[in-house]
Amino acid sequence: MIWDYKKEVEAIEKNLGDLTFEDRRVLITGGAGFLGSWMCDILVHQGAKVVCVDNLASGLKSNIAHLLDLENFRFIEHDISEPIFLEEKLDLVVHMASRASPFEFEHYPIEILKANTIGLMNSLEIAKKNQARLLYTSTSETYGNPLVVPTPESYYGNVNAIGPRGCYDEAKRCGEAYVTAYKNQFGLDTRMARIFNTYGPRMRFDGIYGRAIPRFIDQALNDRPITVFGDGSQTRSFTYLTDQIEGLLKLACLEEARGSVINIGNDKETTILDMAKKVLEITRSRSEITFHPLPKDDPLRRKPVITRAEEVLGWQPKVPLQDGLARTIEWYKSSK
Ligand SMILES: NC(=O)c1ccc[n+]([C@@H]2O[C@H](COP(=O)([O-])OP(=O)(O)OC[C@H]3O[C@@H](n4cnc5c(N)ncnc54)[C@H](O)[C@@H]3O)[C@@H](O)[C@H]2O)c1
Repeated sequence: MIWDYKKEVEAIEKNLGDLTFEDRRVLITGGAGFLGSWMCDILVHQGAKVVCVDNLASGLKSNIAHLLDLENFRFIEHDISEPIFLEEKLDLVVHMASRASPFEFEHYPIEILKANTIGLMNSLEIAKKNQARLLYTSTSETYGNPLVVPTPESYYGNVNAIGPRGCYDEAKRCGEAYVTAYKNQFGLDTRMARIFNTYGPRMRFDGIYGRAIPRFIDQALNDRPITVFGDGSQTRSFTYLTDQIEGLLKLACLEEARGSVINIGNDKETTILDMAKKVLEITRSRSEITFHPLPKDDPLRRKPVITRAEEVLGWQPKVPLQDGLARTIEWYKSSK
């Protein structure tokens, strides 16, 4: 199997059906990151005029290098937590700027808090000035270590504000409150996605940026031990990037989604140990699995209720874990 960029773009566009972003004017903060750069790809390909604001904190210019010379794409290297004036008129603002890897929480807690509060407020003000729609990428981490699983959007969460994940979880919860305030006070057209663990090509595997799947792939292909935290029985619901981007774009586009907050994640729960074994199987690696202390406040289970996504967006995850992992592994090999 050879990883094919065009096939990923085609898969997303096929799933979008008749929805199109042609001539829409879109700001994406965090657009040089893993998910943001795929949003830029699809929107640019569909003929939208895209402004990408990113300070390259965890994103990479190489993710958007192929877009830089296009007429309908402009990249601005900027920290969204600082004020910015944009000359473009906008229809849609997508606020994605935020470091998202648990290892980054320890090193950059204040940046993370700022990106999801002050930075988000800068995006909200831009949306308000333009009478544009705003999509905020929130997270399943707003549920903390949930006591209700599968977890519906109505669950309030079980979060430790002063724990090691507090900067991220509480920043996102505060972000949701900001978005709700702009919706209620100014009538802004807002939408929020609670994204569950998403993986795929362009996810960083290096250093503090490496989340579980890319870290395991990197370890397996380099015959290093696979580092599982705890006994690996904790679960996640892994969503492949094409499914995630489809969900986010539908949420951004559909009139029925106005004002909503929606879980976007796979409802197939997998243990971290099973996922590590799948990576070993697909890579045919002889790496050993090693077990390390479970970080404090690591959520035990993650599994969304996705009825709202099904009903409002007509969205369901389609890519099985085996297939998504194979595509991610092929991308990893081709990017070396
Ligand atoms: N990937 C997931 O599984 C997942 C899950 C839940 C939520 N999310 C959310 O989705 C969004 C994108 O996540 P991702 O996985 O692509 O992470 P990522 O780290 O690849 O992308 C984040 C991008 O935001 C940029 N950024 C960070 N702070 C910034 C700032 N102050 N100003 C401008 N740019 C800034 C980074 O440089 C990077 O390009 C984030 O808001 C994240 O919290 C992702």
